[in-house]
Amino acid sequence: MDISVRNVADKEVKTGALLLPLFENNPAAFYSDLDYLIGGMIKRVIDSKEFTGKHKQLTLLHVRTINTGRILLVGLGKQSEISAERIRQSGGKAFSYLRDLGISSVAVSSGAFTFKEPPKTSQSPLNGAFYFLEGGLLGLYRFEKYRKPENGKEIKTVTVLGREGDIPLKKLQTTVSAAYLARDLVNTPSNKMTPAALSDVARSIAGRKVKVKVLERKDIEREGMDAYVSVSRGSGESLKFIIMEYKGGKGAPFVLVGKSITFDSGGISLKPSEGMEKMKYDMAGGAAVLAVIDAVAGLGLPLNLVGILPAAENLPGGTASKPGDVVGTIADKTVEIISTDAEGRLTLADSLGYAIKYYKPKGLIDIATLTGACSIALGAEAIAMMGTGTELMERLKKASEETYERVWQMPLYDEYREYIRSDVADLKNAGGRGGSLVTAGYFLREFSGDTPWVHLDIAGTAWNDKDKPYQPKGASGIGVRLILSFLEGLCSSGNG
Ligand code: BES
Ligand code: MN
Ligand code: ZN
Repeated sequence: MDISVRNVADKEVKTGALLLPLFENNPAAFYSDLDYLIGGMIKRVIDSKEFTGKHKQLTLLHVRTINTGRILLVGLGKQSEISAERIRQSGGKAFSYLRDLGISSVAVSSGAFTFKEPPKTSQSPLNGAFYFLEGGLLGLYRFEKYRKPENGKEIKTVTVLGREGDIPLKKLQTTVSAAYLARDLVNTPSNKMTPAALSDVARSIAGRKVKVKVLERKDIEREGMDAYVSVSRGSGESLKFIIMEYKGGKGAPFVLVGKSITFDSGGISLKPSEGMEKMKYDMAGGAAVLAVIDAVAGLGLPLNLVGILPAAENLPGGTASKPGDVVGTIADKTVEIISTDAEGRLTLADSLGYAIKYYKPKGLIDIATLTGACSIALGAEAIAMMGTGTELMERLKKASEETYERVWQMPLYDEYREYIRSDVADLKNAGGRGGSLVTAGYFLREFSGDTPWVHLDIAGTAWNDKDKPYQPKGASGIGVRLILSFLEGLCSSGNG
């Protein structure tokens, strides 16, 4: 897709459709000159109350007296209620609508976005055209790798009418591609997206600033990461411990750990078969980490960053680990496996231990589809966040306001330690139904040492059963924009 910003007037632009974002109640204000040229059609459709500018409302006009043949009026809602997210959602609706009509080139008027005093988001002044395009592009995503395309309809050219430099195009394209990459990895079925395939994707990202290492089973065993190894014992797919190091600054790195179970059957503690096909998305955390590293390298952010993806497949083969087994960890704590379906935390515990041992990180963030209880608690609307890194969590909250990848903090009370006490080992991997969202977090805490650490549970948000305004159903790509915005925040405050 070709995206550009051009200093052309609305009435001059030659395009398949001109998009006019409009506020509710005061819709025509920004476009009276244009409306005059098309014989007052905008005013008429507004006076008739057919178009009011209500949030996400769309009205298509066919016109003949200017260079474009179509104008799409796009409702932004009330100006007093404007937000980055509302603009993204309007953009998402509008772009998909035009794509489905078969229109291949569109132009976006930024008249409504030239605020005298731009409303502020948490980190920067609100750049309406940027968010409109972000939502628009994110919403066009489709996953058609393994099927005949539904239709060949595609938007190929997007022109923003404005001054060059008005929108950071590089940032826009990098962010959107990263979200697309994460969605692709997650949507790809587990027979194709094996641990080995995932490690190949990671290697394909290696370059001048990104080094990729993949530890094989022998190396992993030598490190004493038995908890992680135990998860893959029942599968014929060999495990791959993927390490991606980005060097863009000085000093100790931040480390991101992403849960990368390419398929989670539950193992011997087998899951019910209904809906099990979705468990290919159990590597959504790893996909987000990989995509973030790719984007950070693309943007050349001034910091050091390491991504760790402990990839494995959790199957109930004859050699699988069994409930009651005890395994060691790199951190020298033993774990009793109560449920082989609580496998994610076993892989993450060893990854956190590895990160601390080899990188002495400034901060550690893990992101994981860790518990069914997360989606019971928060549905598909928020990431559950917990941790010891208070400053990191404050920064993540800010990034979450900016990106609308919302986080909600959960407690890690000391009392939860009791829930995962074992009679035969230092810890057990499952603490029963009560509090299972937070006891999973508490388990990880035991492996985070003194390093400021945050856990993000994305089990509820990584997969959409229904379309959202700019998230077609399937993998959402959650975490990518959140963590990118968080890292940008770190860099701009000199904490990279
Ligand atoms: N991958 C699952 C969590 C999950 C469930 C993610 C549904 C997305 C949708 C995880 O490995 C798991 O099975 N967790 C168990 C833990 C329990 C056995 C302590 C759970 O939450 O049921
Ligand atoms: Mn599981
Ligand atoms: Zn899992």
